[in-house]
Amino acid sequence: MDNAVKFIDLFCGVGGFRYAAQLACRESKLSAEFTLSSDIDTQCQDSYAQNFGHRPLGDITKIEANQVPDHDILLAGFPCQPFSIIGSRKGFDDVRGTLFFEIARIAKEKQPTALVLENVKMLEKHDNGRTLRRIYEVLRELSYEVDHRILNALDFGLPQKRERIFIVAIKKGYSFNWPNKVNKTKTLSEILESEVDQKHFVSDYILQKRLQFGTPNGVPMIWHENKSGNVSILPYSCALRAGGSYNYLLVDGKRRLTPREMFRLQGYPESFKIVCNDFQSRKQAGNSLPVPMAKAVIKCVLNALTQPEFKKQKFTDNQMRLLERKVKYASKTKITNRRKILA
Ligand SMILES: C[S@@+](CC[C@H](N)C(=O)[O-])C[C@H]1O[C@@H](n2cnc3c(N)ncnc32)[C@H](O)[C@@H]1O
Repeated sequence: MDNAVKFIDLFCGVGGFRYAAQLACRESKLSAEFTLSSDIDTQCQDSYAQNFGHRPLGDITKIEANQVPDHDILLAGFPCQPFSIIGSRKGFDDVRGTLFFEIARIAKEKQPTALVLENVKMLEKHDNGRTLRRIYEVLRELSYEVDHRILNALDFGLPQKRERIFIVAIKKGYSFNWPNKVNKTKTLSEILESEVDQKHFVSDYILQKRLQFGTPNGVPMIWHENKSGNVSILPYSCALRAGGSYNYLLVDGKRRLTPREMFRLQGYPESFKIVCNDFQSRKQAGNSLPVPMAKAVIKCVLNALTQPEFKKQKFTDNQMRLLERKVKYASKTKITNRRKILA
């Protein structure tokens, strides 16, 4: 891998993974190049275009795998809707029709060195673990080593309890280690805006209902109402959601989070332009991922890919073929001795 790392950003939303990859590369003294991004949602496309100067392609199911440009790392925070089909049967083709298959289809054709996938925590236990086992099987059939962890945004500097599964698939021969937690976390005071439009405040009726659970005491708190109607008062936010009740997270029991606050809770930079209306922006922020958490994982992938020991590793036939192709392309000469290219 040279200094420019090539990424593709599938199910890109408004670009959480892209920010994370850019930060990880910058910290690793590499440059990040995005060769393709895709999201079916036109509002996400608008936002992505305004922020990254590039409009994502649409429906991934309509993109031929051989049209996808070469890349080193495939990023995908894929939707969780189709899990149930994945775990049920055997064979690579059985995951056809699910959006995970779209990732596998592209990886099969393009053979990126690594994939970083993100999803909801419940994927780990879904269908008694069968769904995740199938994902492992499919990626292993494509010659990847696979591992996963449940990570929490609270451990990566953000005041949001957001547990997500990260799945890293990496070609054989690399040594990948998961990131450590960071000690310093932003406080809610650093996240919350000082002047908030009246439209974000709840009605007097809802306020009175919330005040049965506590009294604001000057230190900002997020009041979280769970499904059974109980309210917990916490110095951090519970996981932002794309849908769900409008009032399930209230600052001091009296107002909703603003879109800017929501993006801050996901670790987006202040330079991120919020271009859609409040409803869409809330959905986009709730669908996105904690940028510093994804950055930490991608940085570990970059560490693995750039470690010098790699050249000492044994290669599978498939990797040998790819390396040969790469070297052949570069030198335009026929390689007669396969092992020579490792010298
Ligand atoms: C969980 S969100 C990922 C958000 C993203 N990681 C971010 O940081 O904003 C899943 C995304 O997949 C997109 N999506 C769903 N079906 C799709 C399809 N067939 N092709 C492309 N994108 C799709 C949705 O519009 C949504 O933005």
